Amino acid sequence: MRLGVLISGTGSNMLALLAAHRAGRLGGAEPVVVVANRPDARGLLAAAEAGVPSVCVDHTRFGDRAAFEDALTAELRGRGVEWVALAGFMRLLGPRFLDAFPGRVVNIHPALLPAFPGVHAQRQALEYGVKVAGCTVHFVDGGVDTGPIIAQRAVEVRDDDDEAALAARILAAEHQLYPEVIRALAEGRVTRDGRRVRVRPG
Ligand code: GRF
Repeated sequence: MRLGVLISGTGSNMLALLAAHRAGRLGGAEPVVVVANRPDARGLLAAAEAGVPSVCVDHTRFGDRAAFEDALTAELRGRGVEWVALAGFMRLLGPRFLDAFPGRVVNIHPALLPAFPGVHAQRQALEYGVKVAGCTVHFVDGGVDTGPIIAQRAVEVRDDDDEAALAARILAAEHQLYPEVIRALAEGRVTRDGRRVRVRPG
């Protein structure tokens, strides 16, 4: 399963996927390219240092979203990518891109969806006052963090948490959960019936 990883920033989830692959914990999934939509995405350099081809498809250089998505698709297809993992990718993807990889685009979000979609999920969770937070891996549809949920992991919210402390605790859970889900996908253990997704144990 040739995997493309899309990032916009630090890329710690992307690095967790690369590390899991090196450790033989990604099943038959192989991250073959890392693509960022911003030239200053720190993860680009980190991916290159890890020996994975990394490229920038700068969204500001395209006239509209369709042109950007076509370029992104061409880059991924040119490398034989079959599945796409969004890892802190901060652009909404439309039908043009999603139709190119039907049912094969997944995302990780730092909240227990459907609570707190969109940006600043950890801040939203703290402001709401929840006692349990976490992360979600889901299929990507046209909405903002609305696609069918594949897996979730909970973490506690502590009384003295600020946004950074909670984000760090959630991120540690993300780094475990995302490789587990990619492995399950690669091993054919994920089945989908409408919004209901089942992951068979490995
Ligand atoms: C993560 O919290 C992820 O859930 C969210 O954006 C953040 C990306 O972090 N979508 P990183 O770039 O993987 O370090």
